[in-house]
Amino acid sequence: MKGLILAGGSGTRLRPLTYSCAKQLVPIANKPILFYGIDSMTTAGIRDIGIIVGETGEEIRNAVGDGSRWGVSITYVPQHAPLGLAHCVLIARDFLGDDPFVMYLGDNMLEEDLCGLVAGFGQDPGRDADARILLAKVDDPSSFGVAAIGPDGWVERLVEKPAEPPSNLALVGVYVFTSTIHEAVRAIEPSTRGELEITDAIQWLIDHGNAVEHRIIDGWWIDTGKKDPLLECNRLVLDTITPDLVGEVDDLSTIEGSVQLSGGATVTRSTIIGPAVIGADAVIEDSVVGPYASIGDRCRLEGVRIDHSVLLPDVAVSGPLSITDSLIGRHAEIVHRGDDDRHRLMVGDHSTIEIG
Ligand code: TTP
Repeated sequence: MKGLILAGGSGTRLRPLTYSCAKQLVPIANKPILFYGIDSMTTAGIRDIGIIVGETGEEIRNAVGDGSRWGVSITYVPQHAPLGLAHCVLIARDFLGDDPFVMYLGDNMLEEDLCGLVAGFGQDPGRDADARILLAKVDDPSSFGVAAIGPDGWVERLVEKPAEPPSNLALVGVYVFTSTIHEAVRAIEPSTRGELEITDAIQWLIDHGNAVEHRIIDGWWIDTGKKDPLLECNRLVLDTITPDLVGEVDDLSTIEGSVQLSGGATVTRSTIIGPAVIGADAVIEDSVVGPYASIGDRCRLEGVRIDHSVLLPDVAVSGPLSITDSLIGRHAEIVHRGDDDRHRLMVGDHSTIEIG
């Protein structure tokens, strides 16, 4: 079985970060989101992975490389414009050949690994499925793609953001297909938003007599394409880290709970409250960091109280300042000058600033 990870797209919901950074490379607990997907495929025994890349392709190639770090082979498939998830299958035809494959949205994170979810696909002689979709029970199905399941357990219908959902089962960003999907993606037309929709391709399979099966996932699943779900994902992953203190902590500092402190990082007159991760060569002084903080490599915090936040590398914050629920891009600088109460800002397009 092959793997296809979708790491193109426009990432409009994560602007301004996505002006300068691929959203699939935003770190969760200081590791790019995309790497969790590759880890998951590797654990499931998939060795041949294609990655769809768009405008940020070069950055993704530089971060992922040829896959040798995971012991897998990576093939990059450039997409000239984000023309839809089914378009990704269309352009990956040569890479995929006639093999069955798992398709994985590069900005999605699942608690469960893929092993159980892909196991046995295409190996049940009595139930030859051409696709397997993953579903999660959600409270508000009307904002998702939703599946209607027939009495025999097969998927009968998929509906995008239905006003009257046929079930509470939302489509998770992982799919397993046989090569029949290639016929489907060639047959469908772009939707009203101009994209070739994977839901239309799967519906085409059903309408043409092909069987689509489903699995309901047990653990959490998060589409990290927006700030708040991304921070929630950071919390969920930080809850699983094991403590590892490599950097230096002075005698006037305390470390509580599960904390990872990378090499070259220094903590001075500060408190780190786990779960938290602090990247290489970060400098933390007179600060309280955590819980649920991921501080990137080479960040400098001075007089800062920060929790429930993700800082990309090279951020500098100088307080006294208290920061929560924040996602801060590379090389951002936040300084409390203290000479008057006015704010002086130089902020990128589509930024969001909430002042308490
Ligand atoms: P989405 O998050 O649905 O789309 P997007 O990246 O364009 O984001 P936004 O809505 O914020 O503008 O895409 C899911 C994943 O699939 C994501 O990793 C990007 C990837 N993708 C492609 O690779 N090609 C495409 O044509 C599309 C639509 C998405």
